[in-house]
Amino acid sequence: MRLKTHLLLWILLATVVPLTALTLGATRYSEVVYREGVAEDIGATLNTVVGEISRRLQSDQEILRGLATVPALQDYLPVMATAARGDLHPDFFERTARLAGFLGTFQGIVPGFAIIRVLDRSANTLVKVENRRRSPNVFDGIESYPYAEVELNNAEFVAGLEALPAGEVTVTLLPQSRIARREAGQSLPLLDYILPLEAEGERLGYLAVNIRGEHIDHILDFAPRVYQGQLLIAELNPDDPARDGVLLFDDAGGSRFSDPKTPAEHMDGVLGGRLSRAVAERPFGLVEDRGAGRAVYYTEFLPYPDQLVSWVVAMGVDLQALGAPFAGIRLAIWAFAGLAVLLALLFSTAAARTVAAPVVRLAAGLKAFADGDRRRRVAVGGMDEVRELEESFNYMADTLERARQERDHAERMATQSAKLASVGQLAAGIGHEINNPLNNILQLAKLAERGLPEGAERARQDLRDLREETLRASRIVRDILNFARQVPPRRERFEVGPWLEETLDLARQVAARARVRLQAGSAPGLELVGDRGQLQQVLVNLLLNAVQASPAESMVEVAARAGDGALVISVADRGPGLPETDRDRLFDPFYTTKPVGQGTGLGLSIGLGIVEHHGGTLTLENRAGGGAVATIRLPPDADGSE
Ligand SMILES: Nc1ncnc2c1ncn2[C@@H]1O[C@H](COP(=O)(O)OP(=O)(O)OP(=O)(O)O)[C@@H](O)[C@H]1O
Ligand SMILES: [Mg+2]
Repeated sequence: MRLKTHLLLWILLATVVPLTALTLGATRYSEVVYREGVAEDIGATLNTVVGEISRRLQSDQEILRGLATVPALQDYLPVMATAARGDLHPDFFERTARLAGFLGTFQGIVPGFAIIRVLDRSANTLVKVENRRRSPNVFDGIESYPYAEVELNNAEFVAGLEALPAGEVTVTLLPQSRIARREAGQSLPLLDYILPLEAEGERLGYLAVNIRGEHIDHILDFAPRVYQGQLLIAELNPDDPARDGVLLFDDAGGSRFSDPKTPAEHMDGVLGGRLSRAVAERPFGLVEDRGAGRAVYYTEFLPYPDQLVSWVVAMGVDLQALGAPFAGIRLAIWAFAGLAVLLALLFSTAAARTVAAPVVRLAAGLKAFADGDRRRRVAVGGMDEVRELEESFNYMADTLERARQERDHAERMATQSAKLASVGQLAAGIGHEINNPLNNILQLAKLAERGLPEGAERARQDLRDLREETLRASRIVRDILNFARQVPPRRERFEVGPWLEETLDLARQVAARARVRLQAGSAPGLELVGDRGQLQQVLVNLLLNAVQASPAESMVEVAARAGDGALVISVADRGPGLPETDRDRLFDPFYTTKPVGQGTGLGLSIGLGIVEHHGGTLTLENRAGGGAVATIRLPPDADGSE
């Protein structure tokens, strides 16, 4: 997986996901708490409505009981007693008119009492007042009594009336109301009240009232619609299937208690029948239809404690409106989460670039180094960890390179030593064998020269040449023996400046003959510990090589200085430079490019042997601008490797 993806995943897992989950969880929790509050508020509202309706229905009954005691009605009781015997009371019309007048006035004050009737014992209507107007009493034929309405031949109803307890209001449905319901399709939401009228223990008739629901509407109109809820009241009536489930009051559909003509809607229409099913299971609770986005809180109560009728008071709320603030918060959370993901993406890309770039560079460096580019190092910079890595790489490369150089050097020394050893042995053997005859030749040549007569100049010259050549041969033999002997260096501390001058003096004669100038420069106070003579021999060999390579009138520069913890002595000339071929054989014993008689090819190999015994190095390179430079590097105390 790529670094960027890794970083992104980590950021998402460590921050965005838990934060989003947390905030969403907190929002969900707040919503649940809020919904509980909503349920409480609505429940309280519903209970208030129920309480007020119940109190109002109860007080209607109290008012009815009070109505029975007013003088206009008490004065009417004798009329009723007369009527009970089938006679017409002398003041019948006058008292009937007075009572009707009073009841009309009363209706003006208590509007819910829509129709007030005074019935005789057989339920014929003696007085009827509706909408503050009295229905006139009529004589239905000569024999008949002046009734406003005649009993409806409902023997069952009349029998029921006789059984009513005295002094108590009974809730019922008058036959007249039942007929009106049937005929007009009216909903007539409220039941009627009936109160027996008695005097001295004798039942004289009844006071009956049809209640209209203006005052209930009034209560409902003023009930608070918390959370923009809509109120509805449905009737559950197992005795009357036609009214079972009818909506008596409904903010949404417009049904009202006082308006019985409204086409009655049914509770089954509310939330697709869910409300009906819920009410059948529990008398209060909550129904939700997420699809329709509505919730209905409801409670059921008995408006008339002695009847089977019950009412369901419910308040429906818009779920979307309720959840709107939370939907807004959720949207904001998702938007923030989206933004965070975007930022995380940008950040991880940038971070991956910063972290990966040096790693990629480092990898390239490693590969190049492994492929043989030994000088390859990486630039150090950036973050601490990366910097450490880069420094480690460079350190490793340096160490490896140093180790390689040391190994090469050791190998070279080993080969050189082996070469020197084998060549040296051979040379030493030959040298010894030749040395004695050469000495003899020299002695004999001397003797012969002494014995020469005066004037034998030619023979004298020949003998002198013979001696010269013999001396040269013995010098070579001495060189070979020196070379073969490999004497270990004697250590002493000496000052470099004077030593350098002394050494140059040894080569001055040869230089002068070749018309080459020698120039020496030494930093003051330089000191060296080593074999003064052996090192001098090395420097002389290098000077001779330089002079031999130099054209006339050119300059050979010798310099001594301290550098890199070593003493560096260089001999530079303006000659033709090193030969192109056999560059690596220059240090081999007996390798020479000089004509026979001029060079034995031992100078450099002897020099190398001595310098390496001092723990130093000897190199030969071409100079920029022409010529060659030989460089001796010696550790300052020349503490040899042996
Ligand atoms: N300064 C120089 N410029 C050019 N070539 C050089 C220089 N020094 C050495 N060489 C080359 O290296 C060869 C080997 O040198 P080395 O000193 O070992 O032997 P030589 O000078 O030829 O003989 P010897 O020193 O024994 O008299 C030389 O023959 C020459 O080709
Ligand atoms: Mg030489």
